[in-house]
Amino acid sequence: MCGIVGMVGADVKIGEVLDALKKLEYRGYDSAGIAYLSAHNTLNYHKKKGRIDELLDLMQETLKEKTQVAIAHTRWATHGEPNDVNAHPHIDCTNKIAVVHNGIIENYSDLRERLIARGHVFVSETDTEVIAHLIEDNYRGDLLEAVRRSIVQLDGAYAVGVIHADEPRRIVVARKGSPLVIGKNERVSMLASDVTPLLSYTRNVIFLEDGELAVLEKGRYRIFDLQGNDVVKTTVHIDWKEADAEKGGYKHYMLKEIMEEPEALRKALADRIKEDRVYFEELEKFKKTLREVNRIMVVACGTSYHAGLVFKYFVEWLSDLDVEVDVASEFRYRNLHVNERTLILAISQSGETADTLQGVRLAKRKEGKVIAVCNVVGSTLTRESDAAVYIRSGPEIGVAATKTYTSQLAVLYLLGLYIISERYGWNKEFGELIYQMRNMPEVIEGTLAHSNQLREVATRYKDYLHFMYIGRGMSVPTAMEGALKLKEISYINATAYQAGELKHGPIALLDEQFPVFAIIPRDRLFYKTKSNVIEAVARNAPVISLATERDEEVGEFSKDVIYVPKVNDLLYPLVMAPYIQLFAYHVSDLKGLDPDKPRNLAKSVTVE
Ligand code: G6P
Repeated sequence: MCGIVGMVGADVKIGEVLDALKKLEYRGYDSAGIAYLSAHNTLNYHKKKGRIDELLDLMQETLKEKTQVAIAHTRWATHGEPNDVNAHPHIDCTNKIAVVHNGIIENYSDLRERLIARGHVFVSETDTEVIAHLIEDNYRGDLLEAVRRSIVQLDGAYAVGVIHADEPRRIVVARKGSPLVIGKNERVSMLASDVTPLLSYTRNVIFLEDGELAVLEKGRYRIFDLQGNDVVKTTVHIDWKEADAEKGGYKHYMLKEIMEEPEALRKALADRIKEDRVYFEELEKFKKTLREVNRIMVVACGTSYHAGLVFKYFVEWLSDLDVEVDVASEFRYRNLHVNERTLILAISQSGETADTLQGVRLAKRKEGKVIAVCNVVGSTLTRESDAAVYIRSGPEIGVAATKTYTSQLAVLYLLGLYIISERYGWNKEFGELIYQMRNMPEVIEGTLAHSNQLREVATRYKDYLHFMYIGRGMSVPTAMEGALKLKEISYINATAYQAGELKHGPIALLDEQFPVFAIIPRDRLFYKTKSNVIEAVARNAPVISLATERDEEVGEFSKDVIYVPKVNDLLYPLVMAPYIQLFAYHVSDLKGLDPDKPRNLAKSVTVE
């Protein structure tokens, strides 16, 4: 989703600002632009539909030029189609003010009418353009004051960066609802939508909160509240390395990130298993709450929602605790029966997903207790929750979640055991699960070593137009995640069904042109799933099975079998995840698509 960066300082090269912007490409976008002040403090800007590379081509002559201040943007269209005019930055009538914005201004129509009545001339269809004209209207020689006066009139969500030709050594930023992080070194001060562009400059950053503004100048910043009072904030140290966010010789980030799964798992598990018991230091103060709650509700979106489903099956299987899982966009509009004895588990890789955040805010208003399960240190979700458990995957750049999914699963398994044992005491059966969890990085390392088999299988299936993923019990979330991965990066119509539901409708779709991807580990539901797969075979559907190693019976009814190592029944979602990811990856790559940047999708969806 939209990304913003800004740099102010000495000898900032235009190309350098666009390099920083490129680090936000992974968020998803359809146009890009930059505004900066020239040596004579005139405002220059360039905007282009399409990739940042196209903007770079357009600006070849200017890339080496230096400036003192620049803001840049990747746009994911909401109001108005993706084109050069609607791309950011947006400029006021005097050609002195430039604005980049991430979010949605809900009252933009009213503001636009009022501003037009006052003589302002609009050129785009965007909601953002009103911000530029509003600031122009409020400007009396002090940009910070003009921005402050303007943002209090805005309804909706925003992270904005603003520059003014008459104040050539500063950027004013403000935040409500959309992520914004700032940082500095001796040469420059920077703003960005997330930490990745900042990592080459500093690891110590500040996350702005809603209702905060900041003025960035060379090597320093000041933060204010809406009343103009100074706000003192502590910096957050980010231990991600810059190289973690680079491709490191792989063709795509997605492939690199799948291959990083064993290492990410090691980090997720590190110091959380001690003497065969589970330990979450960050939840020590939360133990009493864990004993007192009588219900768990999981709120999440996309892949994180699928991780939540695995958690539900796991906890319900091992205890008498009820776990409800809901997609955040539904959760927040239900008549929620949440109270102080409800534990809300908010799962989000980015910690910035607007629907999940709104769900959490609603649950907190009803006194629910919230634990965030998150990857990004300091993200909005972790700040607004009562406790945060990090999955420690490092930066994930591919839009399709991969290593963060396996790390989420690992952490959620441990968290499930932790919650259950806090309430009911330790059960000997958990020891076996812990033992297998401990070995999981090596197990997955071993399976990834044979990942070429997935490419061969993908070659045989890449041209089908439809896919049906099926599974039972804990394999249902795996089927759902498999279908999501395939559709989001290969644009194949892939759906997921509980295997037992096939005969209640979807089986009507099946024929020799409609492959079934069966998630069929040798678990307690094996024979039930097998019957459903055989029903699909009887309709001539080609079947790929994801099954337990040495299970030759599966070979009797499947066209292709992909084997995974034998593990405890409850852990198959984790050991199978890299395979469904690799299958989707290879299909996408073989079709000549870019799995890292799927059309229409954003990595972190910061609007509702
Ligand atoms: C977007 C991404 C998905 C992701 C979902 C939830 O839709 O494209 O890959 O699973 O958001 O993101 P979160 O950061 O909350 O886990």
